[in-house]
Amino acid sequence: MNMELPRGVQDILPEDIPYWQLVENTARKLFESYNYEEIRTPIFEYTELFRKGTGETTDIVMKEMYTFTDKKGRSLTLRPEGTPGVIRAFLTNKIYNQKPVWKVYYIGPMFRYERPQAGRYRQFHQLGIEVLGRKDPYIDFEVIKLAVDLLKNLKLENLEVEINSLGCIKCRPNYREALISYFRKYEDQLSPIDKERLERNPLRLLDSKDEKLIALKDQAPQPIDYLCDECKIHFEKVQKYLSLDNIKYKLNPKLVRGLDYYTRTVFEITTTTLGSQNAVVGGGRYDNLVETYGGPSIPGLGFALGIERLIILLKQQNHISLPYIPLIFITLSEDYVETGIKLANILRTKYRVDIGSPQENLRTQLKWADKLGSFIVIFLTEEIEKNKLKIKNFKTGEEKYTDLNFNTILEDIETML
Ligand code: HAM
Repeated sequence: MNMELPRGVQDILPEDIPYWQLVENTARKLFESYNYEEIRTPIFEYTELFRKGTGETTDIVMKEMYTFTDKKGRSLTLRPEGTPGVIRAFLTNKIYNQKPVWKVYYIGPMFRYERPQAGRYRQFHQLGIEVLGRKDPYIDFEVIKLAVDLLKNLKLENLEVEINSLGCIKCRPNYREALISYFRKYEDQLSPIDKERLERNPLRLLDSKDEKLIALKDQAPQPIDYLCDECKIHFEKVQKYLSLDNIKYKLNPKLVRGLDYYTRTVFEITTTTLGSQNAVVGGGRYDNLVETYGGPSIPGLGFALGIERLIILLKQQNHISLPYIPLIFITLSEDYVETGIKLANILRTKYRVDIGSPQENLRTQLKWADKLGSFIVIFLTEEIEKNKLKIKNFKTGEEKYTDLNFNTILEDIETML
């Protein structure tokens, strides 16, 4: 029997959970203050959803999907990203008939068959937002701002916001032509996969990981030089709002993102301290995706953030104080089980409380308490007969006998913390 963990997946152990809760709680609070609601979509969907949305010529669809057939021969895929499922839910539930604008956020696992390394996993978690139904540049600003503010609220530093515009269906064809004629000149240097991309979606060549393409990509035409007037104005406004709000950003004309659906604004937030997996947040606008799925013409945009990468950064930067919850341990003697249970009921309204086994001796129980990380110990021993209770703080050494009075015991503990 193989008890090994499959490559690229990991357990999230209890000692790390406070980081996850901190990230999730901070995000929920921020997103909800901007009127976003939570959505939970299925972990697997029909494969077609990702082929059509994420894009046939992307690395994700060509190489990285966990695809399987079910017992009826239908092709299903573990979601490699959150956006297609959200759009599918928007269409399945006909939200467009109910709400002019839909602002949602999600938190959950995604799956990509990538080569695992630090910060890159096969099961990882994304926290993302999507907005459907707004085409104005203010909302591009809001989406970028939310990503920036989330990282700021978590006190992260050394981050850089990079933005670019990829144009729309009106100006993209001109750019596409320019790219094709540029790369045609070097066709003999392209790998078979990149040759196919040149025919089907030349924009993908710009985020090809092929070493040989690095120099070629550098000289390639850039989308920003082919924007139509409307795209230019839209992008200028996004930048204006960012500046108004003092959000620092860098215009990166080479930023194209690895998914097919983007139009106009795209952005990434990167860090200098994560090695090669330096992107923490990625997102952008996708004004044609809803229509591509057969829905009405409704624009959209959003971003997703990799929670594992964020937590690596939080640990590196090490100035987050995690919520502190004292654990109070009660040592029991068989005679005082009832008192212990009643006392614990009261203490649990405020603290984490654990109870030792009355069958174990005091020494063993104190060892447990220490291993569990609890340093306030309440002794239920013979003093109870005299209506007294011993409490000891093992960190400070302070010891106190208090009256066995359920009304004041919480206050007594408070003074010892
Ligand atoms: P993405 O850039 O593919 O965009 O992924 C977003 C973030 O997920 C990355 O910046 C990274 O932090 C994290 N991530 C991606 N792959 C891995 C991996 N293998 N291991 C660990 N973390 C990873 C999207 O997924 C789009 N759906 C974002 C979006 C939403 N665009 C518009 N709306």
